[in-house]
Amino acid sequence: MTKLRRKFKLRIRKKFITAFSLTILKNMNLYKSLIRPFLFSFYPETAHSICKKLWKTSFIWNVYSRFLVNDERLSVNLAGLKLRNPIGLAAGFDKNCELINGLQHLFGYLVLGSITLSPRKGNEKPRVIRYVKEKSIVNAMGLPNDGARTCMLRLNKVQSIVPLVVSVAGFSVEDYVECTKLSQPHVDCIEINIGCPKV
Ligand SMILES: Cc1cc2nc3c(=O)[nH]c(=O)nc-3n(C[C@H](O)[C@H](O)[C@H](O)COP(=O)(O)O)c2cc1C
Repeated sequence: MTKLRRKFKLRIRKKFITAFSLTILKNMNLYKSLIRPFLFSFYPETAHSICKKLWKTSFIWNVYSRFLVNDERLSVNLAGLKLRNPIGLAAGFDKNCELINGLQHLFGYLVLGSITLSPRKGNEKPRVIRYVKEKSIVNAMGLPNDGARTCMLRLNKVQSIVPLVVSVAGFSVEDYVECTKLSQPHVDCIEINIGCPKV
């Protein structure tokens, strides 16, 4: 009986999320009038954490993956990597390689990190500022991340359907070399972040 009830509850939840997402997709005004003001009422990193939590919920990306367009005409070849579409996620959104299961449904490739050899807390907060009028955001995060070893342990458990790139940052040549060595077996490509000016 409880199993049945749980199944029923899950189905209702799934239906609700589908209907909710459809409404948002069909009506961008809802995003502009409701969701964006809600997210903008938080400090940017808090809004990011909320989105990350949601994005880890398989329901969300299961629903979004239904609206994906998979058209062969969008596929491109990038240095030998076949991309489903040419839109990739830039470094900085999934700094700790935690969101691949969901993000892979949205993009042609993912750039994870930037990661460093050792874990880093980054700069003191506030370190991200929104300029709403200018529709821009300035960040000086200072490369917060869980460190290459922890991130690679996470990557080891993931089977991605899109090419993965990891952005590697460091403070010496040895850092870069070691971090690259640790990352190489787990990704399709390495991006070298040599110019992070905010550390
Ligand atoms: C909050 C935040 C964090 C970022 N973290 C990184 C990072 O860790 N490594 C990196 O190479 N770029 C980082 N970036 C830069 C982005 O990858 C990207 O280059 C930048 O947002 C410009 O994107 P656009 O050309 O689409 O406007 C970050 C950007 C933001 C806003």
